[in-house]
Amino acid sequence: MKNLPSRVRVVEVGPRDGLQNEPCPVSVETKVTLIEALVDAGVQAVECGSFVSAKRIPQMADTAAVFQRLRRKPDVSYTALVPNLRGLEAAVACGVEEIAVFASASESFSQSNIQCSISESLRRLGEVTERATAVQIRVRGYVSCVLGCPFQGEIAPSAVASVAKELLAMGCYEISLGDTIGVGTALKTRAMLEQVAQGAPMERLAVHFHDTWGQALANVLIALQAGIATVDASVAGLGGCPYAPGATGNLATEDLVYLLNGMDIETGIDLEKLAAAGRAISHALGREPVSRAAAAIAAKGAL
Ligand code: HMG
Ligand code: MG
Repeated sequence: MKNLPSRVRVVEVGPRDGLQNEPCPVSVETKVTLIEALVDAGVQAVECGSFVSAKRIPQMADTAAVFQRLRRKPDVSYTALVPNLRGLEAAVACGVEEIAVFASASESFSQSNIQCSISESLRRLGEVTERATAVQIRVRGYVSCVLGCPFQGEIAPSAVASVAKELLAMGCYEISLGDTIGVGTALKTRAMLEQVAQGAPMERLAVHFHDTWGQALANVLIALQAGIATVDASVAGLGGCPYAPGATGNLATEDLVYLLNGMDIETGIDLEKLAAAGRAISHALGREPVSRAAAAIAAKGAL
C-alpha cells in the first residue's frame, strides 16, 4: 500500500472521552492509575479530563484533582478539554500545558452540547486560543459530527472543512476530526478528508472515530492512506458522548495498535501493557473491555 506513515501518534482519549460517559463513577485514584499505566505502556499523549460544567458532565468534576495527583513525565502531553475561558483558567491553575477546544460541524449538536451556535462557539474559542497561546499553552481543536449528527443526520463535508479551517486559523496546532456518533463509512470518510484537506494541511489533521457501527478501523485505514498520521482512541473502547444518544465509545486503542503493529507502523506502545491498563479500568467499571484485540490477548493468556 502506498502513502502509509511509518509512525502514528496515538492520542489516548479514554480518561476523558471514555470516562465522561461511563455511568459507574470512578475515583481520582483510579483515573490517575489509569493515566500512569497508559504512559507506562508507551502512550505519549493522553487527554486526562475536562474543565466543563459539573452539572452537565459530573464524571469530569474531579479533573483538577486528577492533574494535581498525576506524576507527570517529560515528553508526554497530558491534555484537558476546555469549552471557555473559565475552563482555561482552571487548566492553567493545574499547570496544564496543552488544552483541547471543541466546535461542531452541526448546528443542532452545537446547541445541545454547549448551548450556542457554531459561530458563537468559534468566537469563544478564538478568545480561549488567544489567551492560551499567550501563556504558552498549546491548543488542539476538535470538530465533532464530521460524518453525521444525532439530530440533523447528514453533514456536508464543506461544513466540516469550514470549521476545521477556522480552528486552524485561530491557532490550533492540530485538528481532530470527530465521528462523534460512529456512523461514518470508508468512502464517506475519504470524501470528507478530501474536502477538509483543501483548506488544511494533512499533517495538521487527526481522526477520532467512535465505533458504534464497527467501522472505525476501516475508516482509520482510509485516513492513513490519505496521509493522516495522528489517531485518537480510547483504551478498552471506553465511553461515548453524553449529548449523542446511542453513540458508543471510541475505537479501542488495543484494536488500533494491533492494526498498526500488523502494518509495521510504529506507535511506541506496548500492546500487552496497554491491554492490562484496559482490563484494570474495565474491572473498576464492572465490565469487560470493548475491544476484540483485548479479548484475544486475554484468551491467549488464559490458555
Ligand atoms: P452555558 O449554560 O451556556 O454556560 O453552558 P453558562 O456560562 O451559563 O454556565 C452554565 C453552568 O456551568 C454555570 O453553573 C457555570 O458556572 C458552569 P451554574 O451557575 O448553573 O451552577 N460553567 C462551568 N463550570 C466548570 N467549568 C467551566 C464552566 N463554564 C461554565 N469551564 C458550557 C456552556 C460549555 C459550559 C456547558 O454547556 C458545558 O460544560 N457543556 C459540556 C460539554 C461537554 O463536555 N461535552 C462533552 C465533550 S465534547 C465530545 O465529547 C466530542 C469530542 O469527543 C469529539 C467527537 O467525538 O467528535 C470532543
Ligand atoms: Mg469523542
